[in-house]
Amino acid sequence: MEPKQTIKFFRYDSPEYKLALELRTKVLRIPLGLNFTDAELRKDVTDIHFGLFEGTGIIACLTLSSAGKGRVKMRQVAVANNVQGKGLGKALSAAAERFAKERGFKSIFCHARKTAVPFYEKLGYKITGDEFTEVNIPHYSMEKRLE
Ligand SMILES: CC(C)(COP(=O)(O)OP(=O)(O)OC[C@H]1O[C@@H](n2cnc3c(N)ncnc32)[C@H](O)[C@@H]1OP(=O)(O)O)[C@@H](O)C(=O)NCCC(=O)NCCS
Repeated sequence: MEPKQTIKFFRYDSPEYKLALELRTKVLRIPLGLNFTDAELRKDVTDIHFGLFEGTGIIACLTLSSAGKGRVKMRQVAVANNVQGKGLGKALSAAAERFAKERGFKSIFCHARKTAVPFYEKLGYKITGDEFTEVNIPHYSMEKRLE
């Protein structure tokens, strides 16, 4: 039998956060030849972190940052390399969107890697500006109303 998959949210410095940071490093930084800077990690302190767990292992994660004026930023979306393309990114984003909507946020936005733009488009996000560079690769700002 497959181990059960569960979505949890958690705070900075919890045991789950440490697992999520490991996954983010593997999926979002090592392939770019980078690691997280102290300045980047400081942003995690006040964020809410989400993970999709299978048994005790984490297989997908993301982070929400309040951005003021009813907007929330979704960032650090990472699905383990061996389970990408199975609907996990979509399921975790939907859970984070529901969480944000229940807390009164009116819209959610992200800085999407150019390669991930079709993923966000499938979730209903729209490009809101010109291409820009972050972590040395092309990105677009994308946003979705939380109806
Ligand atoms: C991008 C990422 C988060 C998507 O998560 P995922 O679990 O692989 O995607 P899902 O299986 O939930 O895909 C949902 C839909 O988007 C599509 N999709 C996902 N990634 C895509 C991509 N890179 N290009 C085109 N379509 C994509 C899927 O085909 C699926 O379509 P469907 O609903 O019609 O079947 C994940 O692949 C990942 O971590 N990639 C590497 C890191 C990264 O780029 N993170 C995003 C940083 S902004």
